Amino acid sequence: MGFSHIGQALAAKEILDLVHEDLQRVEKEIARESTAGVDAVTNIGRYLQNSGGKRLRPMLLLLTSKLVGDTNETAIRLAAVVEMIHTATLVHDDVIDVADTRRGKPSANVIWGNHTCVLAGDWLYMQAFQVALRLRNFQVLDVLIGLTQLMVEGELLQLESIGEIDVTEADYMELVHRKTASLFSACARLGSLAAGGTEAVEARMADYAWNLGMAFQLVDDVLDFTSREAVLGKPVGNDLREGKVTLPLIYALEEASREERRLVERVLSEGSYENVSLRQILDILHSHGGIERARRRAQVFTEKAREIITSFPESPAQRALAAVTELVTERDH
Ligand code: IPE
Ligand code: IPE
Ligand code: MG
Ligand code: MG
Repeated sequence: MGFSHIGQALAAKEILDLVHEDLQRVEKEIARESTAGVDAVTNIGRYLQNSGGKRLRPMLLLLTSKLVGDTNETAIRLAAVVEMIHTATLVHDDVIDVADTRRGKPSANVIWGNHTCVLAGDWLYMQAFQVALRLRNFQVLDVLIGLTQLMVEGELLQLESIGEIDVTEADYMELVHRKTASLFSACARLGSLAAGGTEAVEARMADYAWNLGMAFQLVDDVLDFTSREAVLGKPVGNDLREGKVTLPLIYALEEASREERRLVERVLSEGSYENVSLRQILDILHSHGGIERARRRAQVFTEKAREIITSFPESPAQRALAAVTELVTERDH
């Protein structure tokens, strides 16, 4: 699985050892619950499950459960639920973004087409809720419904600002809160709920995971410019080509000349690097320190997450959750 590539092999190993068996049960649950009465849905679910993915959200949920008490059947189910919701958002997201690659493979929309993927995504969302509903716990449903609405709002906000060059740092943070950090935060809440954590513990863990999620998306947006397609599993420079101005560019644009701004505008309006190359954009980013500044901003979120998690009593799960913060900022995909 994903994290084995990361330099910090030891920390990664400690985390994986802790949740390895639980994650295997989660995979079984996902496979069992992703079988629909119509082949296309089952095939899309299976295709995505087998295409890799770091399983970061189930891991976060399981580790939070372990920190609070222990992982039980409820935690396993909920871990499957959050990964299914994540999968549904990716299927829809790739339709919206007209993406052609996901996890190093052709994305589902390329293979099955938009129409089928929209419906399969809907089915996966509903199936995730169905699994959650079996727990007969209103708090769980409340978290899941609120979270899904926030994520959809995030995608809608993003859609509104597509092709827009004047995105502010505040706009961007609001977007990341909705589309990414909200799910991370929900994972921690659900992990704590499953293990019977107090409201105070649940709130602190949600805060930890929210900061982790913010850092995760900021790093994702940095990697979009700095990584390689073979490692990332999606094309480099993709965000700008898709019309998204992310934090490294927001920072660089604050100091860019009119000519540089014009180059960025050209990529945004043409949706390609044909006339303005990715190299030219990277030069603009680097000359104004956009990448470095975005990395440092991610680090601030990571440090906040670490500060919260180190305020809990030491335990293997607590150490693993502290190590996750490093993996997120130092990951390469
Ligand atoms: C992708 O999330 C969507 C973002 C929030 C950037 P991940 O990078 O966790 O995706 P997988 O599941 O590992 O492929
Ligand atoms: C990922 O968003 C999907 C959600 C977080 C809802 P992006 O469009 O920014 O991420 P990638 O690059 O497709 O993974
Ligand atoms: Mg996308
Ligand atoms: Mg998107």
